[in-house]
Amino acid sequence: MTRLDSLEKIKKEFDKALANCRDAETLESIKIKYLGRKSELTGVLRSISDLSALEKKEIGKYANVLKTQFAEKIKNIKENSDVFSSPGEARQIDVTMPALEGRIGTIHPITRVTRRINEIFVSLGFGIAEGPEIESEFYNFEALNIPLDHPSRDAFDTFYVDGEYLLRSHTSNVQIHIMQKALPPFQVIMPGRVYRPDAVDATHSFMFHQVEGLMVDKDIKFSDLKGVLSCFCKRMFGEETKTRMRPHFFPFTEPSAEVDISCIICKGKGCRVCSGNGWLEILGAGMVNPKVFEAVGYSPKKYTGFAFGMGVERIAMLLYGIEDIRLFYENDVRFLKQFV
Ligand code: DAH
Repeated sequence: MTRLDSLEKIKKEFDKALANCRDAETLESIKIKYLGRKSELTGVLRSISDLSALEKKEIGKYANVLKTQFAEKIKNIKENSDVFSSPGEARQIDVTMPALEGRIGTIHPITRVTRRINEIFVSLGFGIAEGPEIESEFYNFEALNIPLDHPSRDAFDTFYVDGEYLLRSHTSNVQIHIMQKALPPFQVIMPGRVYRPDAVDATHSFMFHQVEGLMVDKDIKFSDLKGVLSCFCKRMFGEETKTRMRPHFFPFTEPSAEVDISCIICKGKGCRVCSGNGWLEILGAGMVNPKVFEAVGYSPKKYTGFAFGMGVERIAMLLYGIEDIRLFYENDVRFLKQFV
């Protein structure tokens, strides 16, 4: 066998041994057998000086190529397979290393404010109910004493799904569902999404959120409404918050009022947020119109009640000093992560 043949044989044996190698220990013994001080290959390289000039060039070159190839193949296997990383080697997992910080989401400001409103009313003995967002004209308008010629019943002022059904323009529809199912006394709030085809700008959106309220019993008075709402405003905006009611008109309440709070920024002195007058309009309210009771089959002689409705976005904007309603809907993490 020529020297070249024996080198060829070493190479074949090495490749076979490597192909059958399944663990780090075997790999290490292959390394020693084929590259170690006592290996055949090292022997060939050592005896090169005894060879003729021509052999030196040919055999020496090939033996060196094999040496690099063997080392390279062993290194490759070690680096690319976890099975071959034996204890004590660099690829071991360091269980004491601090974990990469996970990103924890935050509660959306609208959800946060809705939950706060719910908590306050629940603490006052109110229940929570929800109703449909696709609604018939009866629940959204008729039963609430909103006449056929009211502008919000115009197809261009409301999102109609078909002739009779529409995306509800307020949460007041849920009042009717509740009263059709339950008999007084009860007190309930009704949070949810509402829709209006408003052009989107810093203070308007085609979709926003409201919380509706309704309390019905035999002897509910306007002073009960005022008491509940001023208590709510103090808890929501701070103990020092004052409340005032201005006469207003809503078809489903009589009398009706708009409710203002003393400006939470300037405490009533007058600033940019309250347009200098010290008050901020926060919700609409009133005593349930007897016509609404009639529409659900209650006797207006027997029962009285109050109702109110507030916009969640408006309250969140005031509480957090947010100047553009669109920020709530854009899903920009830089905005959302501030609410922790
Ligand atoms: N539904 C009214 C709106 O969307 C808000 C409202 C006002 C609700 C007075 C009421 C109420 O229940 O009594 O503008």
